[in-house]
Amino acid sequence: MIEAHSRGDLQQALAPHRQAGRRIALVPTMGNLHAGHLSLVELAAQHADVVVTSVFVNPTQFAPGEDFNRYPRTLSDDRTALESSPCDVLFAPGVADMYPAGIDNTVIIKPPPKLANRLCGASRPGHFDGVLTVVARLLLISLADVAVFGEKDYQQLLLIEHMCHELGLGARIVRAPVVRESSGLAMSSRNQYLQPAQRQLASALYATLLSLQARIRQGERDLAGLEADGRRQLRDRNIGVEYLQIVAAETLQQPIDSDRQLRILVAAILPGARLIDNLAVDLI
Ligand code: PAF
Repeated sequence: MIEAHSRGDLQQALAPHRQAGRRIALVPTMGNLHAGHLSLVELAAQHADVVVTSVFVNPTQFAPGEDFNRYPRTLSDDRTALESSPCDVLFAPGVADMYPAGIDNTVIIKPPPKLANRLCGASRPGHFDGVLTVVARLLLISLADVAVFGEKDYQQLLLIEHMCHELGLGARIVRAPVVRESSGLAMSSRNQYLQPAQRQLASALYATLLSLQARIRQGERDLAGLEADGRRQLRDRNIGVEYLQIVAAETLQQPIDSDRQLRILVAAILPGARLIDNLAVDLI
């Protein structure tokens, strides 16, 4: 594995591969890599010849007062983890490389409000502007043929797919399934903000999603009632619920009768961490 710390370094590292006609996959991350991230790298290697993993804690996707300053930065451990993965290039740029005009002068990509201003976008205004802005740059710098994103950040994934399609960025987006701890808790760098007891409690998120999925599969169609039950189940365990919604999987809007693919999405507040999770429900 080689390392690149600037745009120029990355482009130089990738040029011979591109000339040789090798396909390049990008796995964008903010580092602090866990098994979930490594599964994205494994998947990327199945779709391309050369895998680039970026590690960049992107300041533009954090609102003032969010966890940008305390977000875990563990580049040395990340390097070790990637060494025993199929990653070929670790790209770890600095802020000035990603935002050469300075953050206040940067060109921002604005996602469509219909998809971006609900769910996570409702409580994190501007968050997805920052995500799309950095992902577009990473794709343009790497000229990746494929990019892999986890379904855990489901709204982010849909917005990135929408952007790539709309702007013709050229990368095919591959969706990677959520990786869970044995308790069912979706893997996330933010899980480490939790004390052990809260970590155990947080597994209730997945249990709640599974119980709602089972009820829909059994034929229940009062989605508002199901959402209210799900919220109650979590609040009864002292888990704060920012949202719990059952939506049409590809539009994130309230489902209509013809929608066959639904998604149950939740954002929960525990002491020290805000966690998100989601689960697909395909109606037959
Ligand atoms: O999902 C993440 O870790 C980040 O939002 C991403 C896609 C790497 C952009 O900074």
